[in-house]
Amino acid sequence: MSIPIPSYGFGVLLLLCCFGVSLSTSQNNGFSVELIHRDSSRSPLYNPTETKFQRISNSVHHSINRAKYVNQMFYASSHTNTLVSNLTPYLGVGHIMSYSIGSPPFQMYGYLDLLIDMIWFQCKPCNPCLNLTSPIFDPSKSSTYTNIPCDHSKCYYLRYAKCISDNCKYHLVKNSSYSQGDLSADTFTLNSTTGSPISFPEIVIGCEHKNAGGFPLEGKVSGMIGLGGGPLSLTSQLDYSIGGKFSYCLVPFFSNSNTSSTLNFGDAAVVSGPQIVSTPIKQIDPIAVTLQAFSVGNKTILLEQPAFAPITRRNTIIDIGTSITVLPMKVYSKLESAVVDLIKLQRVNDPSHDQLNLCYQSTIEELEIPIITAHFLGADLQLKPLNTFMQIDDKVVCFAFTSYEYFGGAVIFGNIAQNNFLVGYDFQKKIVSFKPADCTNQ
Ligand SMILES: *[C@@H]1O[C@H](CO)[C@@H](O)[C@H](O)[C@H]1NC(C)=O
Ligand SMILES: *[C@@H]1O[C@H](CO)[C@@H](O)[C@H](O)[C@H]1NC(C)=O
Ligand SMILES: *[C@@H]1O[C@H](CO)[C@@H](O)[C@H](O)[C@H]1NC(C)=O
Ligand SMILES: *[C@@H]1O[C@H](CO)[C@@H](O)[C@H](O)[C@H]1NC(C)=O
Ligand SMILES: *[C@@H]1O[C@H](CO)[C@@H](O)[C@H](O)[C@H]1NC(C)=O
Repeated sequence: MSIPIPSYGFGVLLLLCCFGVSLSTSQNNGFSVELIHRDSSRSPLYNPTETKFQRISNSVHHSINRAKYVNQMFYASSHTNTLVSNLTPYLGVGHIMSYSIGSPPFQMYGYLDLLIDMIWFQCKPCNPCLNLTSPIFDPSKSSTYTNIPCDHSKCYYLRYAKCISDNCKYHLVKNSSYSQGDLSADTFTLNSTTGSPISFPEIVIGCEHKNAGGFPLEGKVSGMIGLGGGPLSLTSQLDYSIGGKFSYCLVPFFSNSNTSSTLNFGDAAVVSGPQIVSTPIKQIDPIAVTLQAFSVGNKTILLEQPAFAPITRRNTIIDIGTSITVLPMKVYSKLESAVVDLIKLQRVNDPSHDQLNLCYQSTIEELEIPIITAHFLGADLQLKPLNTFMQIDDKVVCFAFTSYEYFGGAVIFGNIAQNNFLVGYDFQKKIVSFKPADCTNQ
């Protein structure tokens, strides 16, 4: 979704942000940027030799691995004695954003992740380095780059800080692998969908100098852009300018065309109009909400609450880095059988390595797929066929839900289920809102 911004808009907004003027005056603005699907022809990871169906199969495979990571992270966030840093982030099937750092601006690609709460990327010099094919940012070439001293408040926000010659560093060790770098600040620039660049000075970043298997990045994507609720995420750092609001509209990528999805900030991210539903954010880091039930036909499948969250009843992570939706085993089997009851067709096996359990020989258009309603606390979402089934090859459609048997018990609400919804996060009101939308048209 893009909203035209008057040309004086950002000058005013940046001035306000930098002199610390209250955010109420800066709310008349907003901007949108392009979200690049990992597998789209615009993606730096695009592999033209893969077929569409290979990409879909890879995406399901990555989702299953990503779901393990998301679930363990969710569990760890509720258990103070479990270190989140022991988990290797699984980047999976997310979306990518182009951004620039420094002066002059140095363009890079980063994975967007709602579960990560820092912006970081490979810097020069590095040893050992990530195995990247893109140019590497050299902080000594940026006139606006500064290291963050140890007594800076931002250094206290860092969970794994270490002080070396009065520079704040992060140092994550996991088993034999590690990731280390400087906590720094520099100008962060995005290209808005209206064509104008938008710069934010003094954004705190992690400039990675040592990486031994600490993060599984390779190729042309050199870092991560955390959108999570923690204080160092991009969204939290832009808070003055965007009033704690961002939204996205994900196009049904695998069933559709070349149109890009968008990520909207500030007033461009306000989800308004009829048909909006909202659910409270029950935990901010990682962002978690409450899903009470699914209903399909005349059956309702209640979700059990995870034993560790009896009071807040948070049980669901809304994730843009997982494609299919992943449910606890008991819930999945009840939902699957309710769907099976309504589809009068012989089941077939998943032709791509048996990754998905419920498949039919048909096409999405021909199969009579029932609407599945996801009942979030205070927000019922009607999931259409494109949210619940995917065309796995020319003749087979599979249910885009799966199950797992790990500890944690979370629901991972994947990006296919979110297709053609405008999904808005408001950190000030602590709500997530959903509105049905045609995302190819935003
Ligand atoms: C913004 O667009 C310009 C012109 O197309 C391009 O050179 C630059 O790399 C882009 N910057 C980002 C952050 O994508
Ligand atoms: C680095 O990436 C290249 C190409 O993707 C690959 O051939 C090579 O084996 C990788 N090196 C390491 C050390 O992982
Ligand atoms: C370290 O990693 C190895 C191999 O990945 C694994 O077998 C081992 O259990 C890990 N150790 C700890 C303490 O996590
Ligand atoms: C998508 O874009 C690529 C390159 O711009 C083009 O070759 C391809 O035909 C397009 N596909 C569709 C479905 O429009
Ligand atoms: C639920 O739907 C099934 C099949 O449509 C029907 O046979 C059954 O009577 C319905 N049950 C109730 C309680 O409405």
